[in-house]
Amino acid sequence: MAIGGINERTECQSALKSYSSSHMAKLTSSVLTLTKLSNQDTPLEVGEAPMPTAGPNKLVVRNAAIAINPLGCHMQKSGVFIQQWPAIFGCDVAGEVHEVGTETLGRFKKGDRIIGHAINLVSGRPRDAAFALYSVVPADKAAILPDAISFTDGLVVPFALEASVCALSLKQPGIATPGVATPTLGLPYPSLDSVATSKILIVYGGSSSVGSMTTQLATAAGLKVISIASGRNFDLSKT
Ligand SMILES: NC(=O)c1ccc[n+]([C@@H]2O[C@H](COP(=O)([O-])OP(=O)(O)OC[C@H]3O[C@@H](n4cnc5c(N)ncnc54)[C@H](OP(=O)(O)O)[C@@H]3O)[C@@H](O)[C@H]2O)c1
Repeated sequence: MAIGGINERTECQSALKSYSSSHMAKLTSSVLTLTKLSNQDTPLEVGEAPMPTAGPNKLVVRNAAIAINPLGCHMQKSGVFIQQWPAIFGCDVAGEVHEVGTETLGRFKKGDRIIGHAINLVSGRPRDAAFALYSVVPADKAAILPDAISFTDGLVVPFALEASVCALSLKQPGIATPGVATPTLGLPYPSLDSVATSKILIVYGGSSSVGSMTTQLATAAGLKVISIASGRNFDLSKT
């Protein structure tokens, strides 16, 4: 399993290395997870958890790659957003569909390559987190990953894209965490046939993951975008 991200990468890799491969081979009805056991700023640990099953509108994904979001580092240190301990972190997965739940409208089948947003931040359930061999992902937060795109490249999309879409296009505030309504601009949805409008959107942090997606989506919704970024990211922000 590939692990993408910054601060926690070394910690995750060393935790996985310390878990012997012979032990992993014995896993049958349980799955490997990277778990944070307490909120006292303790290191991640490798452990076992029950094999998840796919409920209605859910997929079980066998992860090929998971992303480390800076938010995870913050959660590990402060305990913010954690609803129960032990907690499993991670919001982005890329891998193959292992099980398809009911009510997924025939969009997925076992073996499909997908990317998905794991929603443990909202649900509080460890099985909905990314740092595991198998994760549960809502089917409406997953998308087929074309063969030409690697798991590690596709992995950068789900959560950042969703944050951007929610901020731009939801018609009413969305729920980010229980009790927290995320504001939204209620703009037209992005389209390949969008009509240019006179609206101007200023994206502060335009070179960031969310910012660069916001720029592209807003442009595709017909807005003119002013992207604010440091000089080293000028070319990136201009595209
Ligand atoms: N990534 C996600 O999946 C996700 C999902 C939901 C919400 N968010 C939120 O969206 C925001 C951006 O996260 P991200 O993951 O997209 O960031 P990121 O990819 O890590 O972007 C970091 C870039 O933001 C710019 N930056 C850093 N500090 C800044 C500051 N104080 N003011 C303005 N720009 C600053 C810097 O670019 P320059 O040097 O070019 O200025 C830096 O390279 C965060 O608040 C995060 O919590 C992220």
